[in-house]
Amino acid sequence: MTDDVLIERPETYPGVQVIRFNRPAKKNAITRDMYAKMANALTVAGTDDAIRVTAFLGTDGCFSAGNDMTDFMAFAMGGSMGEEVITFLKALASAAKPIVSGVDGLAIGIGTTIHLHCDLTIASARSTFRTPFVDLALVPEAASSLLVPRIAGHQRAFALLAAGEPFTAAEAQDAGLIWKIAGADAIEEEVLALAANLAKKPPEALRIARNLIRGDRSDVLARIDEEAKHFAAQLKSPEARAAFEAFMRR
Ligand code: COA
Repeated sequence: MTDDVLIERPETYPGVQVIRFNRPAKKNAITRDMYAKMANALTVAGTDDAIRVTAFLGTDGCFSAGNDMTDFMAFAMGGSMGEEVITFLKALASAAKPIVSGVDGLAIGIGTTIHLHCDLTIASARSTFRTPFVDLALVPEAASSLLVPRIAGHQRAFALLAAGEPFTAAEAQDAGLIWKIAGADAIEEEVLALAANLAKKPPEALRIARNLIRGDRSDVLARIDEEAKHFAAQLKSPEARAAFEAFMRR
């Protein structure tokens, strides 16, 4: 299995599972193998009593540059997109236990939308959140078209998801997309301490509280499917292929 994403259980933070992007040479772009490994880790977290919280982390200066463009290109050229992305998104959206995340630097595409399914996100001030879906001739994913307007209102949702405007960490916090901002050097420690603190809480009370706060997730799962249909169709469009070729050529 790929080492481009690492699944860790740090001894110093009992009850915490870490999903760590580990592909810095490619800005932590996410491949099908990485989605599969992350989906598996989330499934394991659902059934393993020793895991109480999952934490997503990236590398220095980069959370993730989103879906791997080579995979997008392969699909545009007629290949199979596979089920890995959707399986991951559904595991993320229906996770039974808390998920936290730490962002330092780039958070693009799914590197931004992943946090909509996290319960607490801490980002460094130098972080940038951006979803250039439409610029790539694609459409929003991860139920972001449902969740961002709900969290941040129509105008900010449109700015992020349709206009592809970058959000600074302060703007993302103001929009309710992340919880708080911390120093770049402190992100990992703060996120892990936060996760360990949650892991110490009475699990059943935490589970019920989280479910009450998150509410019914059937609309989120349905939106993931609806978006995926448009996404798959757009991936095969001439305008998307032109955008991927432009990225490859740059
Ligand atoms: N998929 C695959 N490879 C990617 C990638 C992605 N999403 N993002 C970056 N990379 C790779 C680059 O191809 C490059 O690889 P190389 O050194 O083998 O050429 C390496 O990561 C470094 O990227 P580079 O573009 O040189 O760094 P940069 O600092 O100038 O720019 C980004 C960083 C993230 C702004 C730029 O790479 C980018 O726009 N990436 C695409 C982001 C995107 O649109 N994602 C999909 C969202 S739906």
